[in-house]
Amino acid sequence: MENFEFYVPTKVVFGKGAQSRVAELVKEFGGKKVLVHFGGGSVRKSGLLKEIEDSLVNGGIDFVELGGVVPNPLLSKVREGISLCKKENIDFILAVGGGSVIDSSKAIAYGLANDCDVWDLYCGKCAARGAASVGAVLTIAAAGSETSESSVITNDDGMLKRGYSSDFGHCKFAIMNPELTYTLPKFQTFSGCVDIVMHTLERYFSKQKDTMLQDSIAEALIRTVIANAKILQLEPENYAARAEIMWASTLSHNGVTGYRFIGDWASHQLEHELSGMFGVAHGAGLSAIWGAWARYVVDAAPEKFARLGRNVFGIDDSDDSSAALKTISSFENIFSSWDMPTSLGELGIKPTDEQLDELARKCSFDNSRTIGAIKKLGIEDIRKIYAAAR
Ligand code: NZQ
Ligand code: ZN
Repeated sequence: MENFEFYVPTKVVFGKGAQSRVAELVKEFGGKKVLVHFGGGSVRKSGLLKEIEDSLVNGGIDFVELGGVVPNPLLSKVREGISLCKKENIDFILAVGGGSVIDSSKAIAYGLANDCDVWDLYCGKCAARGAASVGAVLTIAAAGSETSESSVITNDDGMLKRGYSSDFGHCKFAIMNPELTYTLPKFQTFSGCVDIVMHTLERYFSKQKDTMLQDSIAEALIRTVIANAKILQLEPENYAARAEIMWASTLSHNGVTGYRFIGDWASHQLEHELSGMFGVAHGAGLSAIWGAWARYVVDAAPEKFARLGRNVFGIDDSDDSSAALKTISSFENIFSSWDMPTSLGELGIKPTDEQLDELARKCSFDNSRTIGAIKKLGIEDIRKIYAAAR
């Protein structure tokens, strides 16, 4: 096994009624004045926002609201949040929502604690020296941002989507009540399931050796998501299934199946340009691109694809190459059964040749990087994968 660091300092409070502990947790982590940050209104509609704010009032904690975070959160909202926090002397950001709200909160937290421009962090021009405190009340099982060290922001000037990860990018606490996900539209539930599977797959396709334990956890995690997603198709308010999937979202992205970005993150990098340019839901973008990526790289690691298919789908084929192709089809069938797209056309976008060039240019950072691990992909490969996904 190779050397590694494992650092997941988030306190998780999981289960029914967990949100009632919000004021206690903010105080535990030193919050005196809170920014309550949220999205487009689902938390107001469900009554969660009022419940959280009532708890803060009862706990004697002063707060200011900032809503309006959109899926694939925007830099302009982050800047608005930084100005508001400075003006109001806010020292704690409470994200009430999903990955977009949590990521926007993390970016505001960076902006409060660093001298450099916040976007420069996301462009790799400077490194964070700290961050204000962030806590999360999670409402969707998907991105795993509640315990990950990452934040992904889209710059509205040019629609560039970029991620930033650091030890300061962890939430202090994550409140995770599976009941809060009952109000999710079906599309968001299954888009989230794709993202959970993909965080696990991206780490699975690592070039590391001696990964028996983490590969076995990964396979069990994917089997768990598939089994419980099937239940949710018929019973969206099945607590046990929502709980399994919510916990899977955290474990898929907190490093237990492969720490940090050791793995092959090509599908995520391909997807980030799709959601940056076309505003599609992250999980749906992943399911639309994954099959094209997998078929493009499968010859570089047929044995790994084959093992995955045997242990997740019970594929009974001793030939690695054909078992590998069956694995890819099996994942596409699962995504289709969740009504998730398996091509860009099904995702509702039809990029022109010029747009394919632009996607490849952005994804390769103007032809200055390769992506992927099991097979390194340059700008030409990237363009071919986008084209194959059409
Ligand atoms: O905005 P509201 O009205 O709240 O509606 C949201 C949004 O439209 C809705 N929603 C969330 N919880 C709900 C609900 N609707 C009804 N009931 C509820 N309980 O769902 C929609 C999607 O929300 P969003 O926060 O965008 O979803 P998700 O958690 O999938 O986050 C996606 C973002 O996370 C990034 C993605 O790139 C994307 O920008 N990622 C962040 C990562 C990280 N920080 O570690 C890793 C991921 O790979 C990913 O890249
Ligand atoms: Zn993801």
